[in-house]
Amino acid sequence: MSGSLVCVGVGITLGAHISPISRSHIEQADKVYMLMSDGFVESWVASMNDNCESLQPYYDEGKSRHSTYQEMTDELVSAAQSGLKVVAAFYGHPGVFACVSHKAIAKLIELDIPAKMEAGISAEDCLYADLAIDPGKSGCIHYEASQFMLYKRAIDTAAHLILWQVGVAGDVSLSKYSTGEDYTQILVELLLTYYPADHEVILYEARTLPTSKMRIEKIDLNSLTSARLSMQTTLVIPPCTKLMPNNELREKLKKLDNPSFLTLVQ
Ligand SMILES: C[S@@+](CC[C@H](N)C(=O)[O-])C[C@H]1O[C@@H](n2cnc3c(N)ncnc32)[C@H](O)[C@@H]1O
Repeated sequence: MSGSLVCVGVGITLGAHISPISRSHIEQADKVYMLMSDGFVESWVASMNDNCESLQPYYDEGKSRHSTYQEMTDELVSAAQSGLKVVAAFYGHPGVFACVSHKAIAKLIELDIPAKMEAGISAEDCLYADLAIDPGKSGCIHYEASQFMLYKRAIDTAAHLILWQVGVAGDVSLSKYSTGEDYTQILVELLLTYYPADHEVILYEARTLPTSKMRIEKIDLNSLTSARLSMQTTLVIPPCTKLMPNNELREKLKKLDNPSFLTLVQ
């Protein structure tokens, strides 16, 4: 018996974002593991296959997410190794800010067991639509908020800066469900080295249920410290500077005398 794993995403809004291929994988699986944003979404996915199991019980207050994610990965790998046709269904895109899917697929490929991922609609996709941001206009940089704080990362203030998991920003223990004002204040201090205090930032929460309201709250960077931040909040920081022309490169390109150059820079 040869087992397999397919990681699929069901999108962010219940019922609205799932692709036909992801739905079909869920319906035809021997076993479906679910990691969803809430109980409603989980019940909806569970209605597609009688053999669904939630991965939520692996989480525990005070338990390091490192161990949680490793245990989830091991569960997926051993189910596929046992010969089952396994589907791991995640909310959003299964491979966006989600390490379990990547780790399980890599491990199974190493073991010569078929494993793959289908794309889904992530919070990032919703954000472009709901906030009318085109990442092609001046660029978009995405960082996980804690990683952005714990490592020296470069920022281009002419691009949009998107910080994920801002509700647990600065959680070195990897075991909290939210970090408080003291932690957010340190993030704000870091951001103030790039952006003015009155720079407008956006707290974004896409709709998870067709009936719920999305959150698009525009506040001053300074007010971020006391803002309500949840596990679903993504922080969007619009550019505060203009694109700077690279004249040296423009000259080099001009010398190539490429007729399409003029169209490119217009
Ligand atoms: C572990 S990541 C999972 C992302 C998910 N795989 C996806 O494709 O969107 C969790 C983070 O995604 C973002 N996120 C999740 N749900 C969201 C929502 N409804 N609206 C905005 N951002 C969301 C938040 O930054 C949150 O902290």
